[in-house]
Amino acid sequence: MELPAHVPVLLREVLEALRPERGGVLVDATLGLGGHAEALLDASESVRLVGIDRDPEALALARSRLARFGDRFVAVEGRHEELALHLDRLDLPQVDGVLADLGVSSMQLDRAERGFSFMKDGPLDMRMGRTGPTAADLVAELPGEELARVFRDYGEEPRAKAVARAVVSARGTAPIRTTGELRALVAKAVGGRREEGRDPATRVFQALRIATNRELVELERFLDDAIARLSLGARVAVLSYHSLEDRIVKDVFRDRAAGCTCPPSFPVCVCSRRRVLALVTKKPIRPSDEEVLENRRSRSARLRVAERIAPGPPRSG
Ligand SMILES: C[S@@+](CC[C@H](N)C(=O)[O-])C[C@H]1O[C@@H](n2cnc3c(N)ncnc32)[C@H](O)[C@@H]1O
Repeated sequence: MELPAHVPVLLREVLEALRPERGGVLVDATLGLGGHAEALLDASESVRLVGIDRDPEALALARSRLARFGDRFVAVEGRHEELALHLDRLDLPQVDGVLADLGVSSMQLDRAERGFSFMKDGPLDMRMGRTGPTAADLVAELPGEELARVFRDYGEEPRAKAVARAVVSARGTAPIRTTGELRALVAKAVGGRREEGRDPATRVFQALRIATNRELVELERFLDDAIARLSLGARVAVLSYHSLEDRIVKDVFRDRAAGCTCPPSFPVCVCSRRRVLALVTKKPIRPSDEEVLENRRSRSARLRVAERIAPGPPRSG
């Protein structure tokens, strides 16, 4: 099976973060085409890897790529926010490292029929998995105010209300079914403005993708599960591609790396907050200029890494 091109982002840094030479069970919670997973499995024969992806097409390609690792690799079709369930089914109470490389793969972006890209005309789908409402369903059904909130909160689109009004007005005449139709409508609503060479529809498409796949809503749940399942000394590494995702990762890591917050005057701790993580990266790791030159998709990547330093429940209440 021919693999579509997808260059793993910050590969050397991910390997340094997850230290596969220590062996054990690693989880790639967003397997994609298996680029990071392959390098982790190649790094040491004593690594076993569970690869999760909600996209059956990606999973089929990764399965064939990683078949040479035999039973050292297990593929799971599912969502990362259900990590605990997947690990329970595999009888893995703890793991020795977790990776998440958030967002879309180049394969998803490149296939017009998946409806992620405004560069190619296709059905307005944007679902990474096979279930749930499509982006076209959201565009058809969400009330105008909710659409404006999605464009503002998930796309940081400055003209969110104007775009939402344009959508509501257009769908009153005919349904918006394709990426091309939506792109043209957004360009008209924002006056064809281009920032930093970006298409005017960039923010709206990002927002709809996040809403369609409930990306931010589920990220915190995934991080909670991942931290809870790390063995002592194991690490979690997360690659994110926009500030909204990165903020969630930063806040969750910081929160779990913070100890008791009771005022010093309290004789005993009443908050029960425990420090379960140490931050391995105080600031996110960014790709070098050379990497960005070679792989444009890496330009917005930020890698954050944390290490489990104490047992016990990680939730800080
Ligand atoms: C950027 S790609 C991963 C690429 C991979 N690291 C590689 O080197 O080939 C992100 C993948 O995460 C998957 N994904 C996104 N959200 C997910 C979720 N909630 N649960 C499981 N997989 C998800 C997407 O389907 C996509 O295949």
